[in-house]
Amino acid sequence: MAEPAVLLTRELVPEAMRALDGRCELDLYTGPPEAIPRAELLRRAENKDGLLTLLTERIDDEVLDAAGDRLRIVANHAVGFDNVDVAACTRRGVLVTNTPDVLTEATADLAWSLILATVRRVAEGDRFLRTRRPWVWGPQMMLGHDLCGKTLGIVGCGRIGRAVARRGLGFGMRVVYTDAERLPGDAEAELRVEWRELDELLSESDVVSIHAPLTPQTRHLFGTEAFGRMKPTAVLVNTARGPIVDEVALAEALRTGEIFAAGLDVYEHEPDVPEALTGLDNITLLPHLGSATIETRTAMGLLAVENLFAGLSGRRPRCLVNPEALDRRLGRPG
Ligand code: DGY
Repeated sequence: MAEPAVLLTRELVPEAMRALDGRCELDLYTGPPEAIPRAELLRRAENKDGLLTLLTERIDDEVLDAAGDRLRIVANHAVGFDNVDVAACTRRGVLVTNTPDVLTEATADLAWSLILATVRRVAEGDRFLRTRRPWVWGPQMMLGHDLCGKTLGIVGCGRIGRAVARRGLGFGMRVVYTDAERLPGDAEAELRVEWRELDELLSESDVVSIHAPLTPQTRHLFGTEAFGRMKPTAVLVNTARGPIVDEVALAEALRTGEIFAAGLDVYEHEPDVPEALTGLDNITLLPHLGSATIETRTAMGLLAVENLFAGLSGRRPRCLVNPEALDRRLGRPG
């Protein structure tokens, strides 16, 4: 039997590449380091059985049309899958998978790197020293804020939000959270977190960390109104998805001192980072590094490949996002 045809839109870590070896007819995009151009994606998707995609590719009806009837699975190399039109895939019986769990701890560590960097002005201090300006230790130099005894507000208390909350307890913080669904009482007690409505969380928290998925409900959840509710001493950290924060409103809130500082790993129009943000000192900016450790990217790559081959061989992939598509494939009412 012919090997399945697979498009991979960027080279993965070596172990994951080895896991693909000899198991499919691989079409690997190795073009310039930027994401695969749209026209190239549409051309190369044609007649593929599987697409192994990154969060930088938009997989929608146009791509699915280009791929045609052979397409069985879109295996996304990310926990977030807002880049994939899942409903369009489901309508066509195309499975969609993601890579949850394996990146939880790495992403929580990165969120905490941003919390500490913004609260204690770490990147700003580093930039300052590199200017070679003369300096001397002073009682009022580059003051940040304490974390111990303060309140950490988690927006989106899924796997990553909970891992960030656990670290917050280690720093001596009280942790409050909000989510579309409240956790069961025993889970709240075990995690030592308290539920709040978003508005209450915003006015109460000293650190607000975003861990919600990007959906129509969370797009621009953080805008002028939200910043208006936050404390002037508060910091905002976003390691989830850029469009959850209105960057124009954020730049204004940081410029006017409506909030103390921010740390971003993700951007509204990624990979663009507006000058309104890069020009500010009270923001720490990272290039979407949440899951960027060797161990985690290896685990993500291997999981994406495992999902891909499960879908291609007609088995249920471990991280199936749209089980209805499987029902459709198997002719079951879904
Ligand atoms: C994801 O997986 O969704 C992250 O944003 C990248 O690892």
